[in-house]
Parts: sequence; structure tokens; C-alpha cells
Amino acid sequence: MAYQNDTDLEFLNQCDNELLGVLVEILTKDKGEERFTETLTLSNGYKTYHPDHVKYWRDIAESYQRFGGNTFVNMVRSGGVLYREILCDVCDKLKVNYNPNSSIETIEMQLLNKVLTDSLEKMTPEQLEEISRDFGLKLENIKGLTPQAVTAALQAAIRVSGFKAYKCAVIVANALAQLILGHGLSFGANAMLTKAISVFAGPIGWVITGLWTALDIAGPAYRVTIPATIQIACMRQMINAADSDCDEELDDENDWADEDDIDDDEEYDDEDAEVAHNDVCKKPIGIFYGTDGGDTEKVVEQIAEELREYVDVKIFDVAKASRNDLRRYENLIFASPTYGEGDLQSDWEDFLPKLSASDVAGKTIAFVGLGDQDSYGETFGEGIAHIYRKLAKRAYVVGQTSTDGYQFESSKSVVCGKFIGLMIDEANQDNQTKERIAAWVEDVVYKFN
Ligand SMILES: Cc1cc2nc3c(=O)[nH]c(=O)nc-3n(C[C@H](O)[C@H](O)[C@H](O)COP(=O)(O)O)c2cc1C
Repeated sequence: MAYQNDTDLEFLNQCDNELLGVLVEILTKDKGEERFTETLTLSNGYKTYHPDHVKYWRDIAESYQRFGGNTFVNMVRSGGVLYREILCDVCDKLKVNYNPNSSIETIEMQLLNKVLTDSLEKMTPEQLEEISRDFGLKLENIKGLTPQAVTAALQAAIRVSGFKAYKCAVIVANALAQLILGHGLSFGANAMLTKAISVFAGPIGWVITGLWTALDIAGPAYRVTIPATIQIACMRQMINAADSDCDEELDDENDWADEDDIDDDEEYDDEDAEVAHNDVCKKPIGIFYGTDGGDTEKVVEQIAEELREYVDVKIFDVAKASRNDLRRYENLIFASPTYGEGDLQSDWEDFLPKLSASDVAGKTIAFVGLGDQDSYGETFGEGIAHIYRKLAKRAYVVGQTSTDGYQFESSKSVVCGKFIGLMIDEANQDNQTKERIAAWVEDVVYKFN
């Protein structure tokens, strides 16, 4: 049986190996032992590429579909089933309140909500208080909270805030990793997420373990499809957050970071936040760039010169840089031209696989892309989109710019109607480069830390 094309699973090819690794573990192991019914480890993809999971994502998806088919065994399925059907089946089994005609994302969010709210039931009043503060929930009386009150407020917050939904997905994914791998995800150390992550990890683990005990009776395939579906739901929310860094969500992220900085007993002070936001950055900035012809090097040197009026800057050519160089910085700029058809510059192609989103989680990052809109209008400045897709999902992205003044057909570096960073075209608009750099630097120095 082969993987059945399923548009709802294609996004797995954008996920990082850490998250895919949890999915692989669920599909292949049962309480740490080889799973009796699994076939993934026999596939060519697994044998060739494991643990580089993204390279054999179709085999992973196929294995998941196959377990999905096993849960429908009474209906005499000849092969695997598509994701939507498995998701709805899992939701039915867990008594999730959902509408089968809703979008996949909405149904998945209902599923994650169910896991979260069931775990709230298992929390002490102190833990409920902690969660409410951490999520900035609007509650009348934070002392003496009930799980029902926190559930209602949390659901309302998730509905209006993409970033809070993302945060829930991270929390569930981390608790699942804790349960499956015995340790949380590497970005669990991110200071901004720690409170909620650690408070939720135990109760979510108990909820999922409780399900498993019940599922031994209901059918062993559910022991795979339920955690695997929860994991896939988390992964999609995390990827979607990376793809939709609209201003509204970035504002939301920043609000939340501010909230986290407050002592528990202090009132949130809008004025303080305003002052902090208007400060020029103080922490050094690391600029990482790659170049073939020298344009990008010239551009980053100009950027560095402007930035040095405010803050320390160090430039690294990725051909010679290490992952540790990058990890030292809390403020980062990534610069790359575009080659091939929308590809990354070659040194970046070697460097990027050495990095993971956890290296920049919680940090402030910005992008500088170079391209040629006349000759390559269909893939204009797309080099940096590869870096963005891999690294940006858990970082604060700053320095997005307007596409006004450029003429091109398409670019994956445009997200929510804006370039993900500064876009420079030395081939056709070099007379605007100096001015574009100056305006951009003026903007980002107030947004870096
Ligand atoms: C073979 C080749 C392919 C290119 N492909 C693209 C492309 O797909 N999209 C784009 O916007 N620019 C493309 N460019 C333009 C370069 O990104 C641009 O010239 C850039 O300024 C080069 O930067 P560098 O000197 O730092 O290497 C391409 C250039 C060459 C020579």
C-alpha cells in the first residue's frame, strides 16, 4: 500500500525533524518497545533517511493512514484513509464537540481544546491561577477560580488570538513529547513559554494516559491514531502561525511578551510598555549572510554601518559561521540573495540544515533578501523565504516592508501582503538601495531588544 495523496497531510514536508520525530515515535513504538503492527521501519524512506524525518514524510503519512484504516477495520477497508476521516473519528471517540463540515484547522483546534480543558479539570487552584495569568485571561476574580471559568476564558482568548492558539498547540505538543520521548521539546526552555508549559505538562500527560487505558479496550489502533492526530493538529497550528505573521498577530505576540515580564502581583502598565517599545535596541545584533557575487555582502555592510550608530553589530559569512555563533545572539538578521528558481544561496543551503527553529525561539529576527524583479519576477527574492519557513515560527519577526515600488509576479517572501523583510534589487533599483536601508534600519532599531 502506498501513501494516498492527501492535501491535509502535505504540510508535513514543512515540519521540523524534532516534531516529526515525536510522530515517528508514536507510529513505531509502544511504551518504548517496537510496535508490533507497524510497517514504517520497513520502508525504504525510513531505512535511508531516519532520523532526517522530513526526507521521508510520505512514508510517515502512509503509516498514519494505515493505522487510521485499522480503526475502521469493521468497515472492511482495503487501505489507509484520508486525514479528515481519521480526525473526525478521533474526535467522535473523544467526544469532542465539533462540526464535521468545518475546516480542518477548526476541527483540530476543537480537539486540542478538549485535551487542554480536560487537563484543567485535573489542576489545583494555584495551577489554574498560574495558567490564567500566563495567558492574560480576563477573569473577574482570579482567586478561587474554577476549571469551568478558566476553560470559558481560555476558549474565548483562543478564538480571538492566533498567537494564543499557537501557544496552546506548543503546550500540547510539548506535553506529548514529554510523554512519548520522556523529555519536552527543546524550545521548552524558552523563557516565555515555561510557566504554562510546565504547569500543563503533567495534567495533559495524565489526560492522554487516561485515554490510553480506556483505548486498550476500544481497539489498539486508537493508541496510535489518537496521539498521532493530536500531534499532527499541533504541528499544523505551529506551521500556520509561522505562515501568517500578520501585524495583528505580531502585535499580539508582543503584548504577550510584555505581559510575561510582569511580576505576578504587579498591575500591567500600558505606559511602561509604550516606553519599552520606543527604546532603541541595546543588545548586539548578529548578521548572518551568504553571497555569490558580493551584492549581499555590500548590502549587509551598509546595514551594519547604519546600525552601529545605535548598537554593536557583528557580521558573519555563513560559509564560515557555526551554529554556536548564531546561538549567542538574541537579535539576528538573516540575509540571502536568490539563485536558481527561487532557491537559497549555496552557502546558506549548507548552513540552514544545521539550524533549527529552537535556535531562534523567543528571539527577535529580521530578514534581508536580494533578488532581480525583472529577470526573475516569478520567484522574486524568494531565497529568504526558505530561512523564514524553517526558523521563524517561534521567533519575533520584525522589519517587514511594503511591496510598493516593486514590480514582480510572485514571491514566497510576501506574507500577509508584505515582504517578510527588507527587499533589495541591485540589478534594477540600486539607486534606491541606500534610502531603503536607511528607512529600514530606522524602523528595526526600535524593534530589536
Ligand atoms: C543564475 C541566477 C539565478 C537567479 N535566480 C533568481 C531568482 O530566482 N529570483 C530572484 O529574485 N533573483 C534571482 N537572481 C538574482 C540574484 O539574486 C541577484 O543578482 C543578487 O543581487 C545576487 O546577490 P549576490 O551578489 O550577493 O550573490 C538570480 C541570479 C542568477 C545569476
